[in-house]
Amino acid sequence: MTSHPPQPDIAIRALSANEAEARLDELADILADSVAQGASVFFMAGFSREDGRRFWRSQLPGIAAREKLLFVGDDGARLVGTVMLMFAQQPNAWHRAEIGKMLVHSSAQRRGLGRRLLAAAEEEARKAGRTLLLLDTEAGSAGEMLYRACGWSEIGRIVGYHHSPDGRLSDTVLFRKTLA
Ligand SMILES: CC(C)(COP(=O)(O)OP(=O)(O)OC[C@H]1O[C@@H](n2cnc3c(N)ncnc32)[C@H](O)[C@@H]1OP(=O)(O)O)[C@@H](O)C(=O)NCCC(=O)NCCS
Repeated sequence: MTSHPPQPDIAIRALSANEAEARLDELADILADSVAQGASVFFMAGFSREDGRRFWRSQLPGIAAREKLLFVGDDGARLVGTVMLMFAQQPNAWHRAEIGKMLVHSSAQRRGLGRRLLAAAEEEARKAGRTLLLLDTEAGSAGEMLYRACGWSEIGRIVGYHHSPDGRLSDTVLFRKTLA
């Protein structure tokens, strides 16, 4: 895939649970697009917009409770990217959070949006005092390239961790980032 100029016209912002509910179709479209591209983001081929709506609806209580924050890329007409920052809830893990659902719609990829979404989530984690961030991603994926480009460190790999949307058994790479 070729690189494109950055798109500063895409705004990054946190979405409230109410707004996420109102924009479930757009969120679902981003997730369904990622699965259709073959990304390993929990789901298998044949994933529909309705499946996507169900997934995002299941996230609303956690967003409303601020146990997790949802950041989106908004081009003014529609949402084109997502990332979630999920705060560890255990009393002994108040310094930790995970990154999930780092997704950029195929129409907006390789223009720096993934990097900007990740930076927004990291900044919010820092503000919340979460200094240890963790995530996992499919080995060899665009996600792995993105996290390496953004200064994340590989912790290790798990062979045969999950199935790709087409059914292949795939490895996962675990990453960490320590925030100052
Ligand atoms: C991973 C993903 C979020 C990246 O989003 P993006 O907006 O395209 O990423 P960016 O444009 O910000 O890329 C930043 C850097 O990451 C690296 N990178 C991102 N995508 C890459 C790719 N497909 N191949 C190689 N490097 C890549 C590059 O270093 C890039 O910098 P450059 O464009 O200056 O070379 C996007 O490809 C995606 O949504 N994929 C499907 C879902 C997925 O796999 N998510 C990860 C789940 S953990």
